[in-house]
Amino acid sequence: MMSNARIMLCGLVLLGVASLARGQESNSPLAQPRQTNQTGFPHELFGWVIPPDNPLTPDKVALGKELFFDKRLSADNSQACASCHKPDKGFTDQQPTSDGIHHQFGQRNAPTVLNAAFSVMQFWDGREPTLEDQAKDPIVNPIEMGMKNFDQVVARVNGIPEYQTRFRAVFGGPVTMYDIQRALAAYERTQVTFNTPFDRFMAGDQNAISAQAKRGWSIFNGKGRCMSCHGWNPTQPMFSDNRFHNIGVSAHKSDFVPLARKALAILAQGGGSQQLDQLAIQTDMSGLGRFLVTKDPHDIGGFRTMGLRNLLVTQPYFHDGSQATLWDVVDHYNKGGVQNPFLDGGIVPLGLTEPEIDDLVAFLATLTSPEYAQAAQVEFKKQFKLSRTSRPQRDTAAAMGLKGRNGPGLGGPFGDIGPDQNQMAENPALLGGR
Ligand code: HEC
Ligand code: HEC
Repeated sequence: MMSNARIMLCGLVLLGVASLARGQESNSPLAQPRQTNQTGFPHELFGWVIPPDNPLTPDKVALGKELFFDKRLSADNSQACASCHKPDKGFTDQQPTSDGIHHQFGQRNAPTVLNAAFSVMQFWDGREPTLEDQAKDPIVNPIEMGMKNFDQVVARVNGIPEYQTRFRAVFGGPVTMYDIQRALAAYERTQVTFNTPFDRFMAGDQNAISAQAKRGWSIFNGKGRCMSCHGWNPTQPMFSDNRFHNIGVSAHKSDFVPLARKALAILAQGGGSQQLDQLAIQTDMSGLGRFLVTKDPHDIGGFRTMGLRNLLVTQPYFHDGSQATLWDVVDHYNKGGVQNPFLDGGIVPLGLTEPEIDDLVAFLATLTSPEYAQAAQVEFKKQFKLSRTSRPQRDTAAAMGLKGRNGPGLGGPFGDIGPDQNQMAENPALLGGR
């Protein structure tokens, strides 16, 4: 079973080159299905994540690739999946938030599709369980690809004779929405990439990472407390616990309680997955995160623990793309996040010194796969240089636990305090919800 998958993907690499895909991006070596004989590749896990009703076959993957790069899946032929998930940008767009049809910007940062096969759920708030379910949402989101409804999508694809033939060959019938989703998901599952210096280090090569990165790995698992959410082990190779935490990112700009009330009123109308998608992508309620999915006050401002691979080609960071560098990310954690009543208990001031912060970032840089090494090196230099002069999130006093203890209603060694959070601090339970 596992070895079948391995052999099959090797075959796919050749097939990708021969595909009929249009546009330069899809011909890039970075867009081709990848081999699985990589150091650190979780073969057993890969066997588990392929759904029984959507096995990977070379023809299906090639069809999915074709669709992924095809702008005709959008209302005005301007947006493909690859417009926001560009292979040479680590399958992101490297923008804080994405712009879709008619250059309208959403509220969320585009996460990478690389290794998305291994995520237990999709999107920053986990609102879709599988890659198949995820793939339909952007196509009909009004500011992403802007198609009116699924019937229009199917009619559009069915109107292209080449697709008619290929869907018949792969799925044995005319084009259906679910088969479009299945083909896209199959292609995405071939975008698996490991083989990083860290993976080689864990496989026993002591020289694969520098002494500084080794110190960073210790900080990651110790003083930095990163492992409590981003713990690594062979069945959790993405550095994610696949859970949701409020680490205070959206507390920078969201006044949670009124927003949550507004969201509950809208969700009570019961608009289903498309409504949820629009609230997350297009409105100021986006910062509520997981709460939009569960309506559970504990989930307010909670987002999925993101994986940490290939960070130096998927910048900027966090669900709103608010942090430009890995130093800014670490500064955010170091000061104890941004205080709000829903902050995860695991987010506390860390007391990391400047050399320790540099070590931690050096470790994160070892999570880069070889095909992105060069681009990552350029980005690392850029971020390093910026970090010597600009550190918008740095708050050394808060990081060392010397700040915020006497704030009204906010006892404890907290760092930053978000705007208008007093109402919540009085009694978050008043909110209601589920
Ligand atoms: C306009 C830009 C845009 C387009 C077009 C787009 N996406 Fe995305 N994609 C995003 C954004 C933004 C998110 C995060 C949204 C969220 O989490 O609420 C995302 C999330 C995802 C995720 C989830 C990754 C994760 O780790 O959670 C996958 C997979 C994905 N997109 C695949 C696709 C596919 C397949 C298509 C084409 C059918 C597509 N995207 C079209 C911007 C885009
Ligand atoms: C309490 C759980 C928790 C802890 C502890 C934690 N993280 Fe995170 N991490 C998250 C969550 C949740 C997100 C997504 C948050 C968001 O965007 O709102 C995230 C996002 C990130 C991102 C951005 C990923 C991206 O693609 O944008 C990086 C980098 C990161 N964490 C590194 C670290 C490091 C380094 C540490 C230790 C100093 C750490 N994290 C500690 C939960 C945690």
